[in-house]
This record gives sequence, structure tokens and C-alpha cells, in this order.
Amino acid sequence: MYKIFDSVEEAAYYTAQRLFSKIQAMPAAVLGLATGSTMKPVYSQLLQLLDENPVDLSQLCTYNLDEYIGLSAQHPQSYNYYMYEYLFSKLNLPPQNTHLPDGLISDCEAVCQAYSHAIASQGGLDLQLLGIGSNGHIGFNEPYTCFNSRTHVVELSEQTRIDNGRFFDDQSEMPTHAITMGIKDILEAKEIILMATGRNKAEIMAQLFMSPIDEALPASALKKHRNLTIVLDREAAALLPEQALKSVI
Ligand code: F6R
Repeated sequence: MYKIFDSVEEAAYYTAQRLFSKIQAMPAAVLGLATGSTMKPVYSQLLQLLDENPVDLSQLCTYNLDEYIGLSAQHPQSYNYYMYEYLFSKLNLPPQNTHLPDGLISDCEAVCQAYSHAIASQGGLDLQLLGIGSNGHIGFNEPYTCFNSRTHVVELSEQTRIDNGRFFDDQSEMPTHAITMGIKDILEAKEIILMATGRNKAEIMAQLFMSPIDEALPASALKKHRNLTIVLDREAAALLPEQALKSVI
């Protein structure tokens, strides 16, 4: 199902509301969270909703999608830092209930297996939030990642290094590898919200709409999912074919 909004704020509010309703209805929900610029307004609206309507968060549990290899949790561009900065430091959520991959791991295989296992042992993700890369990645599952993948270490594509390098003071500091939840872990979530905003996501959203399910476009795996909502602002929806827009609104 597509939801298309006039502005980024409205799209973010819709997504924040969905997260908030899930937390209200299921205080012990397991949430899969994402980082990136798309999620900043979502987290800020979620904080506002929780501020106005306090909810007991003591049983809520979160698992983030990914982290750069080589960055400590204190590095301002690490996803651990991002989550602390934009969400966790402002919430009454027990730190032991929040999970992100560790960017400084040494025994990669064991750590990756443990991450997917931890999610499964909690009964899986009740709601997974996703952004999308301009090359169609979800998490850091780059094009041609196997749809059966579990948490793994990935070499970041040239496109991702260009897109995300802009956040680093010096582009050469941009990590070459990351650890990411796998596509199979993501698809096992009971509910998925993929959100994309801005003109720079219009091409990939049009490609995704037209694409068959194909490992060349990781986000196309989501077409197999029975409870997927795609949340867009007008700009990200700008290149969806006319007939598609008619059928989705
Ligand atoms: C981040 C993540 C990525 C981003 C994607 C879009 O945790 O998993 O897939 O969602 O790269 O990033 P932004 O929102 O910065 O365009």
C-alpha cells in the first residue's frame, strides 16, 4: 500500500503515528529502526507524540538495521551516536532494550549470527522501519545481496559511499564496510514501513514500482511482504507513472 503526502512533515507524522500506535497497542513490541536523514523528522515527531501522550516504555525493545565498520559508538557519524542523539537520549527506554550492531567487532561471523538470533529469539520484529538508498539498498543490503541473507558484513557500493560521504568532514573518512541486518531478517518483520522523501528518491521509487522482484534492486524483495506500507512525499512520488498514482492514493 502506498501513502503519498504533500510534504515531508506530513509523511513523517504519518510514520511517527504508526510507530506510536504500535507502542501504545503493544508495550512490549520489538521495533526495527533505521537511521539516515529521512528518519530525523520521524523521530522528532515521535518524541512529540510521546511527550503529549506518555507511554510506559520499560518493555519496548529496539533493533537497528546497521552500523559502519570501524566507527565507535562515540563517532558523530556512527549510527549508534545518531540513535542516541535523535531518539534514545530523549526517551525513557532502558538502554539494555536498545540494540545496534557494534562497528568495532572483531569476530564478525559470530557477532552477525548473534544479532539475527537475538531478534528471532524475541519473537521477531513487530514493525520494521526502512529508508531506501538511491541504489535501492535497504539497511546496507546493496544491489545483488542474496534475499536469504541474515545479518552480515557488507562492502559499501560506490554510490552509497558518495551519497553518505557528504556527512563526513572528509570524504576519505567514509567507511568502506558496514554490518547490516539481512534481507531475510527484514522480511520476517510482521509489518514494514518504507519511507522516502525528496526529489533525490524519485528515480529509485519509480524503478522500484516498475521492477520485478530481483536481487539487483534489494528493496524489490519487499514486494513479497504482506504488510508493507510505502510512505512518500510528493517529490519522492514525482516519477511514479500516472496510472500508478491513481491506483495508490
Ligand atoms: C540507515 C539505513 C539506510 C538508509 C538509506 C537512506 O539505517 O539503513 O538504508 O535508510 O541509506 O538514507 P537517507 O534517509 O539518509 O536518505
